Amino acid sequence: MYDKQITVTSPLLPDLEEFNLMLKEIWDSKWITNNGQFHKQLEKNLAEYLGVPFVSLFTNGTLPLLTALQALRVTGEVITTPYSFVATTHCIWWSGCKPVFVDIDPHTGNIDPEKLEAAITPKTTAIMPVHVYGKPCDTKRIQEIADKYGLKVIYDAAHAFGVKVNGESILNAGDMSTLSFHATKVYNTLEGGAMVMHDEATKKRIDYLKNFGFAGETEVIAPGINSKMDEVRAAYGILNLRQVDAAIEARHQVAIKYRAALQKVDGITFMDEECGVQHNYSYFPIFVDAEKYGLTRDELYFKMKAANVLGRRYFYPLISEFSTYRGLPSATKENLPNAHKMADSVICLPMHHSLSDEDVERVIHIVLKNETSTL
Ligand SMILES: Cc1ncc(COP(=O)(O)O)c(C=O)c1O
Repeated sequence: MYDKQITVTSPLLPDLEEFNLMLKEIWDSKWITNNGQFHKQLEKNLAEYLGVPFVSLFTNGTLPLLTALQALRVTGEVITTPYSFVATTHCIWWSGCKPVFVDIDPHTGNIDPEKLEAAITPKTTAIMPVHVYGKPCDTKRIQEIADKYGLKVIYDAAHAFGVKVNGESILNAGDMSTLSFHATKVYNTLEGGAMVMHDEATKKRIDYLKNFGFAGETEVIAPGINSKMDEVRAAYGILNLRQVDAAIEARHQVAIKYRAALQKVDGITFMDEECGVQHNYSYFPIFVDAEKYGLTRDELYFKMKAANVLGRRYFYPLISEFSTYRGLPSATKENLPNAHKMADSVICLPMHHSLSDEDVERVIHIVLKNETSTL
């Protein structure tokens, strides 16, 4: 057994001394939440960095999904993907809507736009796709279908921080996009999240909705929730934003090494980098074909674990397999063959900014066929 554990992810942490200076400012001002100076600054800095018109900060990446559904007055049925983190579908459920699962494209892991129309009924009001692993959805095709049927599109862009297609932020697609700044993400604010929207009036409404619906001291415009980001996390976020490019580049270097080492391993495949896409290297999923590789996905996963290298079977099981959703008509295995295949074969390899060359070598060594789990 190795002493050092290689984790699947590791949080990007700001410099503690710099953070302490900002904490001192917060302590001195005694303004710790409710749209303070650091909150305002981070919203501005993020909009600039991401290349989007407006950002509204949240306490996590789940509540902006719920708030987007509320703000767009989504009702009835919402089409979504089963290949995601469970929060995506939970928000549809919490908003009183019925989730309808559509299968994924086997190459991208994202909802297959060509299967959307068959799932649309008179009750459908919105589509909630996910840019899985930060890989852009086919936003053009999805928008064409949404426009044809008058549907809203809310992108769960939890994985897509900083991703651009031909120089344009992927976060500008659809009616709204949401981000997660959870500790496991490329960019984190401890816990945190955000919503990206196109216009100032929508930002204003979202800012009300994340603060109980308060519009001023005495007026409540809707049953809003409390999901405001506090000053401590906003300050942390300001500092982390300064180093996120370096962190993404470090991840890029890890991806290059994984690709070079694993490209000829029989039975192991991974996703190609797409031309014109500025990736964020948030995850490095590999897919195990047990027959060709000689081990099942789970055998490899546990072999890694035994060597103290922690991968993650992300996203397994599918959301449609959880007991809460299993009974839905769209949750059957026959309806979601590609999603099942991906969920049954995936392992996300360790991927973060602080992996050393030696760590990467250890991961590669374990995945390489016929190698034992110890160096
Ligand atoms: C695709 C997706 N959506 C939503 C979320 C929820 O984000 P948070 O954990 O910040 O609430 C996550 C977080 O892991 C996610 O991966």
